Amino acid sequence: MRVLVTPDYRTLSRTAAELVIKAVRAKPDLTLGLPTGSTPLGMYEEIVREYRDEHLDFSNMRTFNLDEYVGLLHDAPKSYHSYMRRHFFQHVNVSPGNINIPEGKPGVDFDAEAERYEKAIREAGGIDLLIVGIGTNGHIAFNEPGAPFDSRTRVVDLAPETILNAQRHFGNEHVPRKAITMGMGTIREARRIVLLASGAHKANAVERALRGPVSESVPASALQLHPRVIVILDETVKKN
Ligand code: F6R
Repeated sequence: MRVLVTPDYRTLSRTAAELVIKAVRAKPDLTLGLPTGSTPLGMYEEIVREYRDEHLDFSNMRTFNLDEYVGLLHDAPKSYHSYMRRHFFQHVNVSPGNINIPEGKPGVDFDAEAERYEKAIREAGGIDLLIVGIGTNGHIAFNEPGAPFDSRTRVVDLAPETILNAQRHFGNEHVPRKAITMGMGTIREARRIVLLASGAHKANAVERALRGPVSESVPASALQLHPRVIVILDETVKKN
């Protein structure tokens, strides 16, 4: 596991964006796994800037998002479909048919959807590069503490801590209690994984993930078992 400690959030974002851009340049039909949340916002900005300035071509790239809330329509402002459109897809030329986000809208048969998602990842040849964040409770995607390391895409209950953290973004709106998420098994099959973490509130989770025992009680600790992981932190998250 390589750990890069950058001086600030801007550099963290720039470093993550450069990894993505380099990967797309080397393999224009890259399959890229993508997170949402606060942490990758700067990375998306940097990729979009580079796309504009350097005339990058994302039209052959495929993307798979990590997760989506259950119960929100695509157009709901807090859905991850909306987030991805707002922060990334509306600014770049990823072909709409190459964008994959798990379906969380009401009325979906979620077992069938989970199977469909796994099949789509397999048929794409697996994920080449997967960017992930980490929850304050050590979750990766919405694999909350206790999630089996061999779990696949499925609907899960959000942990109380996750709901509490999300409430800041949802304001007065109700935070969904469930999400559909790639499993830890799905994530561990990605060829390369990049973990991003910024902020003192993540220090404890990062410490447990990188240096603690490998345990399903800290889902991110599974990354210690993966042969190609890069962790990008900024000074605010670094302990000691
Ligand atoms: C988002 C996701 C989550 C977040 C994590 C950190 O798609 O899968 O695991 O990466 O909750 O969120 P932020 O970046 O908002 O601190």
